[in-house]
Amino acid sequence: MKRKTELSLINQLLSMIENKETAMAADVYRNPVSDYTDRTQFDAEKALLFRNTPLVVGLSCELTDPGAYLTEDRAGVPILVVRGDDNKLRAFANVCRHRGTKLLRDCGFAKKLISCPYHAWAYSRQGTLEHVPFEQGFEKSDRATHGLTELSLEERHGLIWVTPTAGTSVNFDQFLAGLDEDLSSFNLQNYHHYETRTLSQRMNWKLVVDTFLETYHLGALHRATVYPIIHGNVGTFDPFGSHLRNIYARRSMDKLREVPEESWDLIEQTAIIYVLFPNTILVMQGDHIETWRIFPDYDDVNKTEMAVSLYTPELAKSESAKGHWDRNMDLLVKTVVEEDFPIGEEIQRGFYSGAQNEIIFGRNEPGLAHFHQRVKQVVY
Ligand code: FES
Ligand SMILES: [Fe+2]
Repeated sequence: MKRKTELSLINQLLSMIENKETAMAADVYRNPVSDYTDRTQFDAEKALLFRNTPLVVGLSCELTDPGAYLTEDRAGVPILVVRGDDNKLRAFANVCRHRGTKLLRDCGFAKKLISCPYHAWAYSRQGTLEHVPFEQGFEKSDRATHGLTELSLEERHGLIWVTPTAGTSVNFDQFLAGLDEDLSSFNLQNYHHYETRTLSQRMNWKLVVDTFLETYHLGALHRATVYPIIHGNVGTFDPFGSHLRNIYARRSMDKLREVPEESWDLIEQTAIIYVLFPNTILVMQGDHIETWRIFPDYDDVNKTEMAVSLYTPELAKSESAKGHWDRNMDLLVKTVVEEDFPIGEEIQRGFYSGAQNEIIFGRNEPGLAHFHQRVKQVVY
């Protein structure tokens, strides 16, 4: 982010705090309850948003060496991302070309030859089929034509995106819609993966995204936890195509007026929330980074699975560093799981009550309106 932008954002936040203001949408937005319950919309979202859109699968720092791999099963297509012997990162359908077995699980290091657990067909880390036991049982040409099915992958600014449908290509500059400047300035490639936890909630996936998009709820729901640290109902909002950036002010920011402008640091004084459309929340959280990768259940409109990851600026080697990041991770998950998600699950059940056909996003909740408008733009 340019220094000029950083200072302008800090000044906006300081003035909002002083005047009890926040970024405002032009209008109130009424969102149909069916947005969170309708089966047809749910199927369209999975097909159009999750199969055909680049999804963040992780950060480059998780896969630095040849052979390092991760898998992602929540997008509807089993995905394998592996760094090749040529150092290039590639994504494949995690599906053996013989009879369809899943090749690798979880994450780790792949051997030079990735051997299928079913009949031991073996693939290179570049995806070529290298070995077929009892090859005389197959057509001569099968080995050359049955490499792993490649998916389009973009590694940029320390983030990795994969589009789950083979043959789909995306104009990535257009897709990022101007977010390059912010993302490149964070040097995400220099961070270290600390931990990832998986959570499953009885809420529609968009309701999980909504959790992160406003600070209007801090003073009530998080009065004793987050509210003493972050101002309620204060925040900037900026759309970047379908993505968005919300910046929330820490209370420590109030003191900035007393120190010279040269020492002002946006990251230190705020929580910067990005929606990397459609389903990743990236949070610049002062001294570390969190990501929430949020996926609809394969079948149930009322269910969501998510991977919560914490990344640290330094490799956590000492026991005291590990203790520090463990406490951070616990706190982060605890607040959301104990305070936000129980409310979310009740909201989801309440949607079936017939009490109302619409819910309201106030003008002071512009991120919510933007996100839902963009989902509808793709789906309808
Ligand atoms: S299914 Fe993979 S080798 Fe047979
Ligand atoms: Fe919350």
